[in-house]
Amino acid sequence: MNQASLYHRANQVQRHDAKLILDEYSSILQWRSDGQDSLLDVGSGSGNVLMDFVYPLLPKSYEQLVGTDISSKMVGYANNCYQRYARTQFQVLDIGCERLPDQLKGRFDHVTSFYCLHWVQNLSAALNNIYELLKNEGGDCLLAFLATNPVYEVYKVLHKNAKWAAYMQDVEQFISPLHYSSDPAQKFTQLLDEAGFHFKNVEVRSEVFVYEGVHTLKDNVKAICPFLDRIPVAQHEEFLDDFIDVVISMNLQEDQQCDVDKDQLQQRFKSPYKLLVAYARKSSDLLDNVLSEMSSTRSFKGVT
Ligand SMILES: C[S@@+](CC[C@H](N)C(=O)[O-])C[C@H]1O[C@@H](n2cnc3c(N)ncnc32)[C@H](O)[C@@H]1O
Repeated sequence: MNQASLYHRANQVQRHDAKLILDEYSSILQWRSDGQDSLLDVGSGSGNVLMDFVYPLLPKSYEQLVGTDISSKMVGYANNCYQRYARTQFQVLDIGCERLPDQLKGRFDHVTSFYCLHWVQNLSAALNNIYELLKNEGGDCLLAFLATNPVYEVYKVLHKNAKWAAYMQDVEQFISPLHYSSDPAQKFTQLLDEAGFHFKNVEVRSEVFVYEGVHTLKDNVKAICPFLDRIPVAQHEEFLDDFIDVVISMNLQEDQQCDVDKDQLQQRFKSPYKLLVAYARKSSDLLDNVLSEMSSTRSFKGVT
């Protein structure tokens, strides 16, 4: 997933979900009373979700905004796009790493992450690192990522196809670590507990996204499919056609509709997926405040 510019324009699902989640959780985040918040985003990709939806929530006097990603290409792209923003930078970080850089430890009031943690097989390590990134006083995190998605089943079918098997031997590495879990919310709550978080709200949302037309779906696949980089460019179109054939065989194609503008049939593809949304605080000091906030905002589904 190194195609930063393509991702930048093909991430409609991710943008849609991040906006909805931030609308709901922005008043729950523990903003500092002095307005000097520092925030680190994990897996920022090309940076547009962070800068379009998280940045506007920060107080004008924020201390620092750090976007991070395992991909140096994504980080380079984001730094280029957003260099004019004050006290803002993007840097390479593998959130599953064994040891965080010392200069990042305990520095952040907030950690956010959208559509990244399903890429990290060692969720335990990622959560330990997020815990360590946060300040002891008032640090909190908002994390959203895929628990399940039909794309994983498509990958598994393509991986059995002799044409693509050689490029997809490690397919399981690219399937969300919660995809096979019978109770992803319970599993993730346990991981948050083990990392040391005190206040947690974990929910799993069932969503459906509809891709309008083959080109839109193919663009999204091109932007996020981890196997394309390994496949010779000359075979990309064939891989994408096979991808669409599998999607159709899985009955993910919606009824065809007439596109009046082009006077041709337009295919629609539905993607029913489960999104895990977790909010957690490092310290339990403010539990009383939290409980009163909760009663005045949208009621949380599971507080442990
Ligand atoms: C689907 S993109 C999401 C980008 C952005 N947050 C958004 O919502 O549009 C996932 C990003 O996570 C990054 N990523 C994958 N594994 C990671 C890891 N271990 N640590 C940090 N970033 C990672 C990928 O490079 C990619 O840019």
